[in-house]
Amino acid sequence: MRTIKLDIEHALYFAENEYAGNLDAARKAIATLEEGTGPGNDFLGWLDLPSKTPKELVDRINATAKRLQEKCDYVVCVGIGGSYLGAKAVNTALADNFEFYYAPNPKQPKVVYAGQNISEDYTAELEKLLTGKRFGIIVISKSGTTTEPAIAFRILKELLEKQAGKDEAKDLIVAITDASKGALRTLADQEGYETYVIPDNVGGRFSVLTPVGLLPIAVAGHDIEKLLAGAADMEKTTLHASDTNPAETYARMRNALYQDGKKIEILVNYDPKLHYFSEWWKQLYGESEGKDGKGIFPASVDFTTDLHSMGQWIQDGERTIFETVLSVAKPSVERRVPEDKDNLDGINYLAGKRIDEVNKMAELGTRMAHEEGGVPNMRIEIDRLDEYSLGQLIYFFEKACGISGYMLGVNPFNQPGVEAYKRNMFKLLKKPGYTD
Ligand code: PA5
Repeated sequence: MRTIKLDIEHALYFAENEYAGNLDAARKAIATLEEGTGPGNDFLGWLDLPSKTPKELVDRINATAKRLQEKCDYVVCVGIGGSYLGAKAVNTALADNFEFYYAPNPKQPKVVYAGQNISEDYTAELEKLLTGKRFGIIVISKSGTTTEPAIAFRILKELLEKQAGKDEAKDLIVAITDASKGALRTLADQEGYETYVIPDNVGGRFSVLTPVGLLPIAVAGHDIEKLLAGAADMEKTTLHASDTNPAETYARMRNALYQDGKKIEILVNYDPKLHYFSEWWKQLYGESEGKDGKGIFPASVDFTTDLHSMGQWIQDGERTIFETVLSVAKPSVERRVPEDKDNLDGINYLAGKRIDEVNKMAELGTRMAHEEGGVPNMRIEIDRLDEYSLGQLIYFFEKACGISGYMLGVNPFNQPGVEAYKRNMFKLLKKPGYTD
């Protein structure tokens, strides 16, 4: 079985005592998770999703995806936060960087996203893109009451019904929401849409391996069985406390560094396809740990791009950061730097080398420089960017997040802070019930 490799050697010596001292806390956190005795224990449904997802559900998701693929040139995923980032992360990691510049493929719709912002321009430009096109909608909201996706869905539903007719629109809209509660459930039942249920015991940021992530990923043409297989293998690998459990090691190392005054973790990638994976990871860790006046601030950079913008700060700024590098061992194709007889650009010394070798040397050189500059460095390597490895990585980070949150002493499964802006916004917009 190929698996992720976690290397903490270049972080450990920054906080060796703290790391040695937090073993008991980690073991206790794992037991709390396994026994379901900690705060937020009614949100542990994600723990065995990979091994317990029924084949019938996977088959139904694939059948729905096929219907949308056959009928649509675009499928819009409407959702925000945990109802958006997982699918966006996997679909971006597995997509061709330039897929949007290619002509539509009659069997493979392009997946676009809406309801993840309240920008009027974004909405209007999306409407423009979809006008006169064959499109479908996957609307996702666990609560069924979130403002951003509700606005986007209202507009897109109207456009779709106008273009395809109300009857056909029903076949082109799929709702993923709570089994019984919320405005989206009421609407979906009334209109007769196909629906999928988000389990009660799975919170938004842990929901990528439910239909929330699986349907948009399948619609984009990716193999959700392989994604679940990778996650299931990682579920086994991280099941129990042990020195070889990578989720335990990562949770311990980041908590040790935090105790040592490293308040910011920067997730680093060397492939732009992982940009949204970092966005997913930031929500996972930010919403899970940032509470009660505590928590590592999760940040991210895309290298080498951001070495030319953020590199100075990381090398020389306040020493409160550590890096976790996400590295892909093998690119999916081979491309070498060509020889040039005039060598006017002076890079003939690279001729014949794979571009990936240059990238890997940039990674190594950066790690050495940052380490010397006082930045602890962890490294996570996956074999290649495919469904299986991404499934492993997703489950690894989720499990480590649960352990890490309990080690920190917070409830990793709630998000009370998210409500504050909403209350103010609702008051300002005079939502009934919020006017006082
Ligand atoms: O992780 C979370 O709980 C949040 O980010 C939610 O996913 C996000 O607010 C969207 O909520 P909902 O799915 O209820 O529309």
